[in-house]
Amino acid sequence: MSPNRRRPLVGGNWKMHFLRDDATRFCDALLAGGALPADVVLFPSFPLLHSVAEALTGSEVGCGGQDIHPADKGAHTGDVSGAQLVDAGCSWVLCGHSERRHDHGEADDLVRQKAVTALRYGLTPLICVGETQAERQAGRTFEVLERQLRAALTDGPATFTLAYEPVWAIGTGETATPEIAQDAHAFLRGQLGDMLGETAAEAKRILYGGSVNPQNAAELISKPDLDGFLVGGASLDPEKFLAIIRSCGSDT
Ligand code: 13P
Repeated sequence: MSPNRRRPLVGGNWKMHFLRDDATRFCDALLAGGALPADVVLFPSFPLLHSVAEALTGSEVGCGGQDIHPADKGAHTGDVSGAQLVDAGCSWVLCGHSERRHDHGEADDLVRQKAVTALRYGLTPLICVGETQAERQAGRTFEVLERQLRAALTDGPATFTLAYEPVWAIGTGETATPEIAQDAHAFLRGQLGDMLGETAAEAKRILYGGSVNPQNAAELISKPDLDGFLVGGASLDPEKFLAIIRSCGSDT
């Protein structure tokens, strides 16, 4: 790892997988992996949060929710509040994952509201942006990324981390090439520079997500604007997840 590089961050988004036993076994295997060359955070589904947070106690591995409601509390069946996430041991939360945008019709402005609420509770929002295949094929990738980013950040949270997750690469096995990913990350960093200033933009970690695995991680992380990963499928196997994390520690 070059000395000036932002410290990598690797998130494991477990989506709607695992029961408590799987989750605690996973945490034991992860923690047995010893010192890691990246910050690591797990995003279990809500019923697993307490067990995972407990299993991670005393370690440097963080825990986060997969979603948050923008209101503090109230009549919102099926939703989870910032206070509940904190109470469950979270320090992070995903905001605007494409599966939330698609499955639940979450629009750009709601993503901003969620990220603002997260920060109010001391949770770091991990804001996800990414274009669909149709948008990429229509040459609209940068337009979509700019729209999603500006909507999330204009009057949005002061502290956040960003993930570029091209929708066409999620769960498909079709990873973005390192060049495609780098182009998008450099574009996003440029936009952050416009919005926050160069220094703040340079300090921001931008994660890549979409069919990351132990085979492609090292080449992706060698790109200058990639600062880690948000891993779905491969984050369900501790050996694969550890291999991805370790790939962040070697210059390739
Ligand atoms: P996959 O790694 O399964 O493609 O999922 C990526 C993702 O959506 C992480 O948030």
